[in-house]
Amino acid sequence: MTLAAETYDELREIAARYPQARSGLLPMLHLVQSVEGRVTPEGIHACAEVLGLTPAEVSGVATFYTMYKRHPVGTHHVGVCTNTLCAVMGGDEIFACLREKLEVGNDETTADAPGLQSITLEHIECNAACDYAPVVMVNWEFFDNQTPESASQLVDDLREGREVVASRGARITSWREAERVLAGFEDGLVDEGPAAGPASVVGLELARERGWAAPADVHGSADVPEEPSEAVEEADTRRAESETIAEEASDD
Ligand code: FES
Repeated sequence: MTLAAETYDELREIAARYPQARSGLLPMLHLVQSVEGRVTPEGIHACAEVLGLTPAEVSGVATFYTMYKRHPVGTHHVGVCTNTLCAVMGGDEIFACLREKLEVGNDETTADAPGLQSITLEHIECNAACDYAPVVMVNWEFFDNQTPESASQLVDDLREGREVVASRGARITSWREAERVLAGFEDGLVDEGPAAGPASVVGLELARERGWAAPADVHGSADVPEEPSEAVEEADTRRAESETIAEEASDD
């Protein structure tokens, strides 16, 4: 079945954001996933049609990146990092625990059950969040310093539809809604939750203690915050500023 006319409109809207339309293919595929629950043949043809590419060219991209799914994803996607650091810190145990609990293998989805939301479980590679290892991602939002017990509780909360908030990010919606955000259509949650955490600025703290500084670049000296906590405050200040701008815009 072909995609709805409004989806075609949004695919064209994404393509129009870029000087070269084909640069929009990645977010377009995310939009397809938000609508179809996966990258369907119809979605591939729609992207190809809008961009003037062949279906084979679009397919080549969709099959290269693991964030694009060729089979249906559940209500939530739970990714357990089993890359080196997370693995030795407990990621392997978390993955084994969830696999047994959910009775699924890697990249598989729980069977439909009355009153329960479905979960797709996947072991994923390093999320660049090693300072919070082991990490679990739900619909690409971080859950830091997990244990088999906390991850098990997390999955219970998701399945039963309770509100869940990421460690450094927004309240969890659904995988499809997150895919729409990745396509560039904001859900208004971008400024929810903390923007950074203490472990992310430990390096800065050490640099301060030891008098290290980044070399000056061609534009002048490096601008390093006086205190590590300032980096976190600065991130929060930027978020507050963007909230103010958004509120002022909505008041107009
Ligand atoms: S190894 Fe898991 S986030 Fe880097």
